[in-house]
Amino acid sequence: MSLPLPLLLLSLLSILPQSLSLPKGTLINCGAPVKSLIDGREWLPDTGFVSVGTPRNLTAPVLVPVLSTVRSFPNNPHRKYCYTVQVYRNARYMVRTTYYYYGGPDDTPPVFDLIVDGTLWAVVNTTEDFAKGESTYYEGVFLAQGKTMSVCLGSNNYTESDPFISALEFVILEDSLYNSTDFKSYGLGLVARHGFGYTGPVIRYPDDKFDRFWVPFEGYNPVNVSNTNVSVSDLWNLPPLKVFQSELTTGQAETIELNWPPGSVRESNYYIALYFALGMLGSRVFNISINGVPYYENLDVTPEGLVVYARKWPLSGVTRITLTPSAGSSGGALINAGEVFDVLPLGGTTLTRDVIALESVKQRIQNPPSDWNGDPCLPRQYSWTGITCSSGPRPRVVTLNLTSMGLSGSLSPSFANMTALSNIWLGKNNFSGPIPDLSSLKRLEKLHLEDNHFSGDIPSSLGNIDSLHELFLQNNNLTGQVPTGLTGKSGLDLRTSGNSLSAPPPS
Ligand SMILES: *[C@@H]1O[C@H](CO)[C@@H](O)[C@H](O)[C@H]1NC(C)=O
Ligand SMILES: *[C@@H]1O[C@H](CO)[C@@H](O)[C@H](O)[C@H]1NC(C)=O
Ligand SMILES: *[C@@H]1O[C@H](CO)[C@@H](O)[C@H](O)[C@H]1NC(C)=O
Ligand SMILES: *[C@@H]1O[C@H](CO)[C@@H](O)[C@H](O)[C@H]1NC(C)=O
Ligand SMILES: *[C@@H]1O[C@H](CO)[C@@H](O)[C@H](O)[C@H]1NC(C)=O
Ligand SMILES: *[C@@H]1O[C@H](CO)[C@@H](O)[C@H](O)[C@H]1NC(C)=O
Ligand SMILES: *[C@@H]1O[C@H](CO)[C@@H](O)[C@H](O)[C@H]1NC(C)=O
Ligand SMILES: *[C@@H]1O[C@H](CO)[C@@H](O)[C@H](O)[C@H]1NC(C)=O
Ligand SMILES: *[C@@H]1O[C@H](CO)[C@@H](O)[C@H](O)[C@H]1NC(C)=O
Ligand SMILES: *[C@@H]1O[C@H](CO)[C@@H](O)[C@H](O)[C@H]1NC(C)=O
Ligand SMILES: *[C@@H]1O[C@H](CO)[C@@H](O)[C@H](O)[C@H]1NC(C)=O
Repeated sequence: MSLPLPLLLLSLLSILPQSLSLPKGTLINCGAPVKSLIDGREWLPDTGFVSVGTPRNLTAPVLVPVLSTVRSFPNNPHRKYCYTVQVYRNARYMVRTTYYYYGGPDDTPPVFDLIVDGTLWAVVNTTEDFAKGESTYYEGVFLAQGKTMSVCLGSNNYTESDPFISALEFVILEDSLYNSTDFKSYGLGLVARHGFGYTGPVIRYPDDKFDRFWVPFEGYNPVNVSNTNVSVSDLWNLPPLKVFQSELTTGQAETIELNWPPGSVRESNYYIALYFALGMLGSRVFNISINGVPYYENLDVTPEGLVVYARKWPLSGVTRITLTPSAGSSGGALINAGEVFDVLPLGGTTLTRDVIALESVKQRIQNPPSDWNGDPCLPRQYSWTGITCSSGPRPRVVTLNLTSMGLSGSLSPSFANMTALSNIWLGKNNFSGPIPDLSSLKRLEKLHLEDNHFSGDIPSSLGNIDSLHELFLQNNNLTGQVPTGLTGKSGLDLRTSGNSLSAPPPS
């Protein structure tokens, strides 16, 4: 979706009434060095939410303040770079990411993946909007499954330059919104949200209390608009009253045919909500079909307004919505507003126990890999550097391989909690400190700690790991004796040269 830049500015000029509460959430102005107050809402700089990337200023001046800076990330194939935002667990969030390319008018913006937690959300392609001088946004509705949520950009096969982002918004939605969706298993990715028969600037906050954007629909000709008095309030999904004050309508017995959502959609299931309110005398009764398939029959529109929704409606390509008045209707068909979301199956998340352990491992590394943010295992093509995971919706870490990555710091005792680990390869780094107790890792086969600065004793508990058959400890600063449980262990390739170990007791 795109927003023409001047329109966005115009719609922001209204003075906010004091009584209206601000949408609750977090607004992040990517690449900005300081916080700013824009139309009464606070936008934070992004430095507290992301640890990688380069802040950049747009080369040409832009009127919309949050678009004047971006953050760009290295173009590394199948690496993701993440914003991590504190959220209320089990709250439902509207997440919106906005892009306005910082390059010159002759440059082509990059195409890249957009990821939320462990789920591939969308492929960001701003090329067409940028050519028209418009910003682009991708919006979705997701459940906060933990205390933080991550939004990441990743390079896919089509990415030719550094992925970037201008703004990131998290707004809490009331629990009744879109509640026919099982948000534990699905997210919603916005495809279109339009006001029909409306021609003014984009309807948003304060008309929409969550600052959703209701865009004027321009794809219907001739437009027959009537401005009406309606008394709609607290309609399901809480659409703003303003979308009911104009409508697309026809004369008696005339059918409305809309190509909506505009353009072509990928083959998927869609959540579709259509909003209606009767603002005039008489009755409006009609059938609704989508691509010829009956969607709702004999809809009798009321002044209080109503919403007709489908939880999972299969669509592919171009969509045609037909509203056919019934014989008993005193007027033609009408429609006020509509929303379409792609129903996205969530990709799962790494087992929480492993996530917590990895966070602690990361904290002890002074210079952890720059992509160690977001979900460690998912999406699968975007697992963290050095990490290999098991399959399934709750994957676990099975290999940690950080060989020769110039890392320093020490090893967290939390390694012991990643009980699916079969391989730990940390050789040729600058790690120091003691080797933690790893005896709970019953599946550990290979432990490579060679060429570091580990000190202290070799834990005798390593001898209790039956599966262990490679233990490389050479060229460290280990002291004491090699535990007899290891020297005597059959089938173990044990290397300990280059340490300060004392000679084994004479046998
Ligand atoms: C962006 O512009 C601001 C204000 O003009 C300036 O302070 C800052 O250094 C610039 N940042 C970059 C990355 O050029
Ligand atoms: C991005 O969008 C442009 C314009 O619509 C299109 O020509 C191009 O093929 C798209 N790129 C990818 C990788 O989908
Ligand atoms: C991207 O390229 C890799 C290897 O070149 C290939 O295995 C993978 O299937 C491609 N992915 C997509 C989405 O085309
Ligand atoms: C969704 O919200 C509406 C409005 O609050 C309520 O009437 C309905 O029962 C809710 N449905 C579910 C499945 O929670
Ligand atoms: C809307 O209502 C107001 C006051 O209730 C009235 O003055 C106005 O004429 C009405 N407009 C229409 C189009 O019915
Ligand atoms: C527009 O609406 C009016 C009144 O409902 C009707 O008489 C007229 O035929 C409509 N025009 C079109 C083009 O649908
Ligand atoms: C509306 O649908 C009903 C039920 O399928 C059908 O009987 C009726 O003819 C339809 N009306 C119109 C105007 O198509
Ligand atoms: C770990 O990485 C090193 C260097 O890249 C490689 O030689 C080794 O085979 C890897 N080990 C595993 C278990 O993948
Ligand atoms: C280890 O750290 C020292 C300084 O603390 C540095 O000189 C050396 O290059 C580092 N070695 C590796 C392999 O990173
Ligand atoms: C391992 O996990 C348990 C439960 O989550 C936790 O209480 C414990 O502190 C963790 N151990 C380490 C060494 O982090
Ligand atoms: C090895 O350990 C000793 C005593 O703990 C310490 O003095 C020395 O600096 C360490 N050497 C290296 C290379 O880490």
